[in-house]
Amino acid sequence: MPQAEELIGERLSLRPVGPEDLGRVQQWLVDREVGRYLLPVWSLLPTARGGRVERLYTAPDGVHFAIVLRRGSRPIGICTLFGIDWIGETAEVGIVIGEKALWGQGYGPEALSLLLDHAFGTLGLRRVFLHVQASNTRAIRAYEKVGFVHEGRLRIAQLFFGKGAEILVMGLRAEAWPGARTMEVGA
Ligand SMILES: CC(C)(COP(=O)(O)OP(=O)(O)OC[C@H]1O[C@@H](n2cnc3c(N)ncnc32)[C@H](O)[C@@H]1OP(=O)(O)O)[C@@H](O)C(=O)NCCC(=O)NCCS
Repeated sequence: MPQAEELIGERLSLRPVGPEDLGRVQQWLVDREVGRYLLPVWSLLPTARGGRVERLYTAPDGVHFAIVLRRGSRPIGICTLFGIDWIGETAEVGIVIGEKALWGQGYGPEALSLLLDHAFGTLGLRRVFLHVQASNTRAIRAYEKVGFVHEGRLRIAQLFFGKGAEILVMGLRAEAWPGARTMEVGA
């Protein structure tokens, strides 16, 4: 796994998540408003048993970034490529802006753009995808804005806090990303 470096955007930067972030991340994820749309596939939600959030920086098949406001160097969320499949050249995307007051200001799409530059440029992946609850309209809109397209709807609803939820699958191919690494002939 190539070591991820800091990725610099206009208002945000992404830097690898470290142990120093875990307390803050745990606080975000246990907040019911922040966590209500997060999918179990993340496997990141801290548990009463002590938390699995350490996987954010130890998982060997993922790259996990803190989203940092460049002004003031304040971490405001996390985003991740997880379950990277180096044979199929795919990965799943996850994102949380943990600071609720900053929702709706375009930070999610900006962080996703940096993450996708990394996925399709540095890592050379060919496709990324994600799962999102059909009721999470804000997230769906944010994903559409960076170019994700609707690929399907899962027939089997997953359970969230005891209720069924419809899950959409959205995907984005490298061909649709301007900064994607060009496929080598014969690759
Ligand atoms: C999903 C998330 C990453 C999006 O990031 P963001 O910075 O808030 O995204 P944006 O600012 O681009 O807002 C997205 C769109 O939602 C719209 N929106 C704002 N408030 C909304 C609301 N209450 N309900 C529905 N849509 C809303 C915005 O208008 C914007 O669309 P527009 O630019 O066409 O006007 C962020 O809100 C978040 O972390 N939410 C909680 C965790 C989560 O749901 N993660 C995704 C799990 S799959």
